[in-house]
Amino acid sequence: MAEQDYSESPDIRFVGVSKWFGDVVAVDKIDISVERGAFFSFLGPSGCGKTTSLRLIAGFEQPTEGDVFIGGTSVVGVPSHKRPVNMVFQDYALFPHMNVADNIAYGLRQRKPKPPKQEIGNKVDETLEMVRLSGFGKRRVWELSGGQQQRVALARALINHPTVLLLDEPLAALDRKLRREMQMELQTLQRDVGITFILVTHDQEEALSMSDRICIMREGQIIQAGSPRELYDEPINRYVADFVGKTNFFNGEVVEANNSSLSVKSESGPVLVGAPSKGAPLLKKGSSACVAVRPEMISISAAVDPDHQADINITGQVKNRIFLGEHSEYLIATEGFGDVLVLSPKTSESNRRLFAPGDQVSIGWMSEAVLVLEDT
Ligand SMILES: Nc1ncnc2c1ncn2[C@@H]1O[C@H](COP(=O)(O)OP(=O)(O)O)[C@@H](O)[C@H]1O
Ligand SMILES: [Mg+2]
Repeated sequence: MAEQDYSESPDIRFVGVSKWFGDVVAVDKIDISVERGAFFSFLGPSGCGKTTSLRLIAGFEQPTEGDVFIGGTSVVGVPSHKRPVNMVFQDYALFPHMNVADNIAYGLRQRKPKPPKQEIGNKVDETLEMVRLSGFGKRRVWELSGGQQQRVALARALINHPTVLLLDEPLAALDRKLRREMQMELQTLQRDVGITFILVTHDQEEALSMSDRICIMREGQIIQAGSPRELYDEPINRYVADFVGKTNFFNGEVVEANNSSLSVKSESGPVLVGAPSKGAPLLKKGSSACVAVRPEMISISAAVDPDHQADINITGQVKNRIFLGEHSEYLIATEGFGDVLVLSPKTSESNRRLFAPGDQVSIGWMSEAVLVLEDT
């Protein structure tokens, strides 16, 4: 059989893909389409089917139903080593008895016919440079830090020039600071090599900071796919809003509904007004809903401030303040609305005065800042 040519339109497409393990459905009828050269992420809690989705692309699993395409060609039944993809595993899976160069060269040496020694050497050096490990070829794997091991794993996956690189929680083992650095490096690397990266993570910050497109999963299904901005600004329901960034939620019942605004009688009494989210089914009068207010959209002022302008004003008491450099994060105990999180930038008017625990304050927001979402 001739080698399949994946060079044309090598995107990934799932059409109605499900994967069952016995009577557990790990992936439940999902459709996705990943553009060539994109940085795409699967985001969701543990057990929602992210790794299984990745393994279906890699060819380590075959779908129970549906079709998987790479570059417009169905790969169902095609074994892993015949697919133009490579995977970086969470635990790196480096060979401890080999040095860095040999780990990286491994994929090339498995090729038939085996490329000449000189060519392998050059490719290893090139790839080491790509992951900023020039000169580390002779080192032993155990002599490297976690971040360096991560880079070796990346280099090993990249040396064969896959059209798609699959990354399963690649930064989970690194400490916070290193993780931030590697996030930026991965992004730069992806732009430089121009191949499709598909990342699996349960860490929203990681997905938001690196991806062009994110697919939010729950229990094997895709709840919403979009750019980080779209998911943040236009979550289709509470689950997505809760997963992407921090949000205050207030439950209630829709008392008035039209295409541009929804009024919700909150559990604590006051009617809150907000916009329906684009792409979500319109909520009807009488249905339960939740009002989502991002903490950065809430202003804070002294309890008696005649200039404080907002559509909704609530009084409360500062419970806690966390200084975050550019921002202060306040937790405000209110009557009726529970504890409300407020993010106040250093430069804002109101923050000329900092509030301390115990202070009486007034918080508020404009209705434009509010989304009314389905409570699921
Ligand atoms: N090989 C397997 N055999 C049986 N069940 C599995 C197997 N792989 C995954 N699962 C189950 O499928 C579901 C999704 O798993 P997984 O894709 O690993 O989730 P995630 O990567 O999002 O944590 C889980 O309920 C998991 O227990
Ligand atoms: Mg997983």
